[in-house]
Amino acid sequence: MRATQAIGFGGPEVLVPTEVPEPVAGPGQVLVAVAAVDTIFVETQVRGGWGREHFQVTAPYLPGGGIAGTVRATGEGVDPAWRGRRVVASLGIAGGGYAELAPAPAEGLAAVPDEVSFTDAAALVHDGVTAARLLDTTALRPGEQVLILGASGGMGTVLVQLAKAAGARVVAVARGDRKTALVRELGADAVVDATRPGWVERAREALGGAGADVVLDGVGGEVGLAAFPLVRAGGRFSAHGAPTGRFAPVAPADAAARGVRLLGIADVQLTAPEHAALAARALRAAAEGTLRPVIGATFPLERAAAAHAAIESRELVGKAVITV
Ligand SMILES: NC(=O)c1ccc[n+]([C@@H]2O[C@H](COP(=O)([O-])OP(=O)(O)OC[C@H]3O[C@@H](n4cnc5c(N)ncnc54)[C@H](OP(=O)(O)O)[C@@H]3O)[C@@H](O)[C@H]2O)c1
Repeated sequence: MRATQAIGFGGPEVLVPTEVPEPVAGPGQVLVAVAAVDTIFVETQVRGGWGREHFQVTAPYLPGGGIAGTVRATGEGVDPAWRGRRVVASLGIAGGGYAELAPAPAEGLAAVPDEVSFTDAAALVHDGVTAARLLDTTALRPGEQVLILGASGGMGTVLVQLAKAAGARVVAVARGDRKTALVRELGADAVVDATRPGWVERAREALGGAGADVVLDGVGGEVGLAAFPLVRAGGRFSAHGAPTGRFAPVAPADAAARGVRLLGIADVQLTAPEHAALAARALRAAAEGTLRPVIGATFPLERAAAAHAAIESRELVGKAVITV
C-alpha cells in the first residue's frame, strides 16, 4: 500500500513516499481505510528530532497520529458492526496514519456524523479533543475571562470557539494581520497582535481589572512566561504548549505564592475511551455547526513533507490536513 515514511529525523524532506506491506487488525483493533490525517505541531518537532526523551520513536517510522476514515476490517474481540462505519482515531506520534490503511484500537474510536467531512473530522481528532479537555480541566465558567496564546493555531482556533460557546470573554493573542483577523472572526472579544511591541501590556489592558481567570498557553517558552503575570491571583494557568521549544517555565513556587493553579501537558493526556468521548463531543458540535475547524490547506499523502513545511513556516492560516 502507499504510505509516507520518516526515513530519519531532520527537516521535512525526511518524509518520503514509499510502499509498505498492508497491516492487519490485531486483537482489539480495527483496520481503517484512511481518508484524512491531521498534522499537529508536535509531530513536526518529533520529526525534527525534538523530545526523544518523551517520545519512544525510532526511525524509520510511519507518522500520522490522528486519522479519519472508514473501518475496513475488525480484529478479534471487536464488534463487527464497526465495519463500514466512518470513524476517527488517535494513534500516537508514530501512529501509522500516513498510509492507505492503519490499525487502530477499537476502544478509542468515535463515529463521524454524516454531516462532517473526513477532512474536518481529522482536523478535530486532536485539536477538538484537547481543547475540550482544557476547558474541562481549567473549569472555565460563563462570565470568566480567558487569555488564549497561539489563538490562530489548530487548537487555538478551536479553543476560541469553545470558550465563547461556554460563555467566557475571550482575549486572544495571535501573530500578524491575517491571523488576528481570523481569531476575531471566530468570536474573540479582544485580539492582541504578538508581533507588536508591548503585547503583554496590550493584553493586560484588554483584560482589565484583576486579569485573566484562565490563561491557556499553547506557545510556551518566554512568551508563555511573559503571560504568567496576566492571570489573576487564584486563577488557572495551563502551560500545555511548546511550539517555542519548551513549555512556559513558570516556577511552581511562584504559582503557589499567588494561589494560581498550574496545569500542564500531563493534564491533557487521555485514555483511549476518554479520547473517544471527547472526540464524539467535538464531532457533534461540528455536525451542529457550532464548531468550525479552520483548515488552511490540504496536501495529498505523497506531499506530507510540504504539509510539515507549511506548519513550520508559520505562514499557513489554519491547519494543514493530509488527504489519502
Ligand atoms: N493539538 C493538540 O491536540 C495538542 C495536544 C497537546 C498539546 N498541544 C500543544 O499545543 C501547542 C499548539 O498545538 P497545535 O497542534 O495547535 O499547533 P499549531 O496549529 O501549529 O499551532 C501552533 C501555534 O503556535 C504558534 N507558534 C508556532 N511556532 C512558534 C514560535 N516559535 N514562537 C511562538 N509561537 C509559535 C503558532 O502561531 P504563529 O506562528 O502565528 O505565532 C500557532 O498559533 C503545541 O505546543 C502542542 O504541542 C497540542
